[in-house]
Amino acid sequence: MSKVSEELQNVTAKLVVRDVSKTFRSGKSEVAALRNINLKVNEGEFVCLVGPSGCGKSTLLNLVAGLDKPDDGGCISVDDVVVTGPGRDRMVMFQEHALFPWLNVFDNVMFGLRLKPNLTEPERREVAKFYLHLVGLEKFAQNSIHELSGGMRQRVALARSLAPNPRVLLMDETFGALDALTREQLYGELQDIWEKRKKTILFVTHNIREAVCLGDRVILFSPHPGRIVQEFDIDLPRARDINDPALTAHASEITAALKNHLCESPDGAVSAVCKNREVHE
Ligand SMILES: Nc1ncnc2c1ncn2[C@@H]1O[C@H](COP(=O)(O)OP(=O)(O)OP(=O)(O)O)[C@@H](O)[C@H]1O
Ligand SMILES: [Mg+2]
Repeated sequence: MSKVSEELQNVTAKLVVRDVSKTFRSGKSEVAALRNINLKVNEGEFVCLVGPSGCGKSTLLNLVAGLDKPDDGGCISVDDVVVTGPGRDRMVMFQEHALFPWLNVFDNVMFGLRLKPNLTEPERREVAKFYLHLVGLEKFAQNSIHELSGGMRQRVALARSLAPNPRVLLMDETFGALDALTREQLYGELQDIWEKRKKTILFVTHNIREAVCLGDRVILFSPHPGRIVQEFDIDLPRARDINDPALTAHASEITAALKNHLCESPDGAVSAVCKNREVHE
């Protein structure tokens, strides 16, 4: 167990995933998307989930978001309240920005705020302006979505997700489709926002260096069945730069572990892919 995980045993976690499995059934076939997942995420912690395609990362995010239900016996809670469906306390950001093209930038951010019945309309407008400023888009408030670049659209999506002040932010390969330069800018902005707004973030990515750049902890998943196989504490100072050589040692360690786990099935047998690789290397 990692140092951070041990510490988490002694504090009340923000998000608790307890013994969660998820099996998808269609006809006679069954997919064990997740098997016995146990995870605690502390308040204000930034946790990244990495692993090969099909290891259940998005499935776990969907379960935490309340968009799907775990198999019997598993349980997910936020602030000790069991997740039974979607809620304002958890906001999901997908790879595709999913903005409404018929609304302008400002109204897209305002949309999430309609879920806050305790705010007056002028208060909502203030909050929307604040978050557009935070992501550097206040000048584009009245623009249409189709007038924005991909990176700007992701910024609008980030502002829209943050504006209702969710306690937990769930991000699924949010920056995957962006060019490297825009991504780098957003890493900086996201770290800044995370520190200022004290969010708890669960962040899915294929990019191990990205995970090391952003995460306090990186959780490694393996497929068939989807499960947690290892976790890594990232104790580098912030704000982190993706190009900082200090990230390399952590990223190499995680990449090596990923390759190792890929070569082993749960019963310890070496997979055919890895046998072949050994022959060719
Ligand atoms: N609605 C569904 N119905 C049936 N099978 C599903 C469904 N959703 C996911 N799966 C299966 O569950 C497994 C885990 O899928 P999931 O999308 O969570 O993986 P992932 O780790 O997010 O992969 P990727 O990195 O490619 O996004 C896969 O084998 C997938 O085919
Ligand atoms: Mg996925």
